[in-house]
Amino acid sequence: MMSQGLVIMSYVIASILFILSLSGLSHQETARRGNYFGMLGMSIAIVATLFSDAVDSYIVLIIALGVGGFIGTKAALKVEMTQMPELVALMHSLVGMAAVLVGYVSFMDSSNGLEDVERTIHEVEIYIGIFIGAVTFSGSVIAFAKLCGKLDGKPILLPGRHWLNLGLFVVTFWLGGVFLEATESGGGTIPLLLMTLIALAFGVHMVMAIGGADMPVVVSMLNSYSGWAAAATGFMLGNDLLIVTGALVGSSGAILSYIMCKAMNRHFLSVIAGGFGTSGGEAAKVEGDVNSIENDETVRLLSEAKNIMIIPGYGMAVAQAQHTVNEITKLLREKGKTVRFGIHPVAGRMPGHMNVLLAEAKVPYDIVFEMDEINEDFANVDVSIVIGANDIVNPSALDDPDSPIAGMPVLECWKSTTTIVLKRSMATGYAGVGNPLFIHKNTRMLFGDANDSMQGILKTLNS
Ligand code: TAP
Repeated sequence: MMSQGLVIMSYVIASILFILSLSGLSHQETARRGNYFGMLGMSIAIVATLFSDAVDSYIVLIIALGVGGFIGTKAALKVEMTQMPELVALMHSLVGMAAVLVGYVSFMDSSNGLEDVERTIHEVEIYIGIFIGAVTFSGSVIAFAKLCGKLDGKPILLPGRHWLNLGLFVVTFWLGGVFLEATESGGGTIPLLLMTLIALAFGVHMVMAIGGADMPVVVSMLNSYSGWAAAATGFMLGNDLLIVTGALVGSSGAILSYIMCKAMNRHFLSVIAGGFGTSGGEAAKVEGDVNSIENDETVRLLSEAKNIMIIPGYGMAVAQAQHTVNEITKLLREKGKTVRFGIHPVAGRMPGHMNVLLAEAKVPYDIVFEMDEINEDFANVDVSIVIGANDIVNPSALDDPDSPIAGMPVLECWKSTTTIVLKRSMATGYAGVGNPLFIHKNTRMLFGDANDSMQGILKTLNS
């Protein structure tokens, strides 16, 4: 057993490591170090908790650690990069479920010896903790289903949904009062169960109403909720480290949601309220001649270009083309060409998706730019290569006020001399919106799997 002082000391060290981890994760160069800090912090936290006097049954603990560790390791080893957002959503749902279960256990545990005000505070913690946990759980399950295509990605809107949300909130508050009163006389189970059902319905309704290109905000928002759910669990268990860690995750998730909304030119509250992008009329139909090209022509255009911009999107992740893209980048740079990458903040299916793939393929960080850094520069670009991206290069976001993605800043690649788009068909992207870029006079479509096309280009460049 560790002394209480040592446990507190370990928790403080773990908290500092978590903060260092977050700050490390904010830059690509330091992300690896950030991860190590996080792992070290979590190991210290687990060991300190294991040897604290809060644990009295090691057998149950070891079985739970074994089962959880086994499932987690298996899932992490198996998951494809493209399934990462789904996995993250699923993990958030587990945090939510844990908060609900801990809440019910704390409610049923009469051995805490709390009296009067302290008892009421504890009951408020339980009520709020279960509420946040249940919203996080059901919301994350729906987000998971939407992200992996088991549910339609489009927003599903109930009539009078804002009133419905407001009504659910009011009832939750009222039930809270009933719960506190009922616990005085040893009851409270019924209002707690009713509130849990309402919270579950609320999570489903909230995430159902958000869809299309606004899903990135849902992912980061649920990340934030899972943090608050963990913090609520910390309050219920009286565990300071869980409170600090939960607050760190909760606030960093909230900041990320805000950054995402800014990147997509959306108001946070409008996205949360749901149904964004559905009020406009029909998105412009894309009709016109498509200019398709083959590998040889692509290589010729690249050989003549001096300034090249590569725009990766979700399709690059699907095709796992990042390594071939890196090989081509190396070759072109050896030939004296300027090659840069333009990254849209919501490219792919999770924050930083493209950066992770490019880092994995060892593309140098100093040629990878954020959208804001290079969007003004497209007029000087000879060839833009769009690899499996669609929504993030859709000009209708800027010039069609009826488009569901109207107002979202996009990479303005059509301003470059030629744009080559690599994709398999004329299909729409995540938001389901037609893309006039594909019929633009300066655009050439290179149809096929992005990795196959890139391999072909690499072969021709090498010959
Ligand atoms: P999308 O708009 O989804 O377009 C991806 C394109 O890749 C598709 O049109 C598809 O066309 C093509 N593709 C798929 N597999 C391919 C393959 N093997 N080879 C070549 N092309 C392939 O992706 P984006 O431009 O990256 O935009 C991201 C979208 O996802 C945005 O709407 C964003 O809001 C949303 N979203 C983002 C996130 C985050 S946090 N980043 C989270 C959730 C949702 P074909 O089928 O014709 O090949």
